[in-house]
Amino acid sequence: MKSRDSYAEPWRIKMVESIRPTTSQERMTRIKEAGFNLFNLASNDVYVDLLTDSGTTAMSDAQWAALMLGDEAYAGSRSFFQLKQAVQDVMGFPYVVPTHQGRAAENILMTMFVKPEMLVPGNMHFDTTEGHIRLRKAEPKNLLAEKGYEIGSCELFKGDIDLEKLEQQITSARDRIPFVMLTITCNNNGGQPVSMHNIRQTAEIARRHNLPLFLDAARFAENAYFIKQRDPAYASKSIPEIALEMFSYADGCTMSAKKDGMVNIGGFLAFREESLYRRAVEWQIVYEGFATYGGMAGRDLAALSVGLREVVDERYLEDRCGQVELLGDMLQEHGVPIITPVGGHGVYVDARQFYSHLAREHFPAQTLAVDLYVEGGVRGVELGGCAFGYVDPDTGLEVWPELELVRLAIPRRVYTDRHIAHVARTFAELAQKRRERTGLRLIYQAPVMRHFTARFERLER
Ligand code: F0G
Repeated sequence: MKSRDSYAEPWRIKMVESIRPTTSQERMTRIKEAGFNLFNLASNDVYVDLLTDSGTTAMSDAQWAALMLGDEAYAGSRSFFQLKQAVQDVMGFPYVVPTHQGRAAENILMTMFVKPEMLVPGNMHFDTTEGHIRLRKAEPKNLLAEKGYEIGSCELFKGDIDLEKLEQQITSARDRIPFVMLTITCNNNGGQPVSMHNIRQTAEIARRHNLPLFLDAARFAENAYFIKQRDPAYASKSIPEIALEMFSYADGCTMSAKKDGMVNIGGFLAFREESLYRRAVEWQIVYEGFATYGGMAGRDLAALSVGLREVVDERYLEDRCGQVELLGDMLQEHGVPIITPVGGHGVYVDARQFYSHLAREHFPAQTLAVDLYVEGGVRGVELGGCAFGYVDPDTGLEVWPELELVRLAIPRRVYTDRHIAHVARTFAELAQKRRERTGLRLIYQAPVMRHFTARFERLER
């Protein structure tokens, strides 16, 4: 990859939003009030907010201009036709079904296809996708290739599905499988890309068994950029060409436009075939709204139609993925253990290794997320024992996940490299005194999705 010193941002700043640095004393008070749960903080009390890259993008002047021209007609909005054209041009799908965000698109897709006892194979479904599959009493099957589970490695396409396992899964349970899904990039193991070869082969297997292939395209442009960077066969192809080829193997996609749609809210389904589109619209009208707006304002459709074209600009992607890589490099210089190679939308820190003196019952990743906030006003998100652990209702015992991670997801076009340097500095300070840190004790948990509302106490030394 090109050195970040050899170019500057392909944008300049036209509007700014103040953020308030606070003192560590203030932050200590705030986090205690918040039950040591970063979801309970007011964003005003956060300095650099890396909770998510979803819906946090700074829109361009062209998007804001499009917003003013949005057509709010209930039916047949001009903004819908602009979106339809953008989806056709960027993804190659002629049919689009707008939804209010990504999980709403998943809801419609699962309603169309998934019945009790079914299995839905994929590389690694995102949490909401899994939720929608399980809601229908079916089972999500994550068939990520083994290399995708290694924390530190040089593997270039750690989002790949295990093709052999996929073939076996389909052969052994063909009647129970409604479709195959690939998440590009793969969020849950670090924003890791899926190779073009893997997408093509997955499509080949699906076609042979007469199954549709859908892409979860939330971060499709970042995936296309990695293909260009990491696969010599694509080095001279343009990002729009690569994106079109990726989608050419699929029958459709679900999209959370809050990521690579470059907007603050929205999503859609897109299809190649009219018959699938017709079925989707039946459910869209019930759950989301009429076919030409589906839960989005006309102005938001308009801004999305511009965002979809902006996101496949190679200079934008070079800057975007370059900034994420910069954070990864800086953290590694300070000896912070992270998932490598660094993925598309954020850096994932291995908290089990960083706080190796803390037992998993004391939530090393949650502790690290809290300590980062107190140290430097930086908000990341815990993806470990709190988010993915649970109490088994049959045995009453805690079930712990494999990984203890803190994700630092970088919003698009929002922070400068000096903010990134601040995050790295915060880690450096914390690394100095990591042994002094005590963990947390869980004192409240909801029966499902406990991380959003959990409360903790700090353990005494
Ligand atoms: N698919 C992927 C790969 C995602 O990362 C997300 C959301 C969704 C689907 C759901 O989309 O939020 O628009 O309903 N990820 C966010 C995150 C929440 O922080 O990674 P949504």
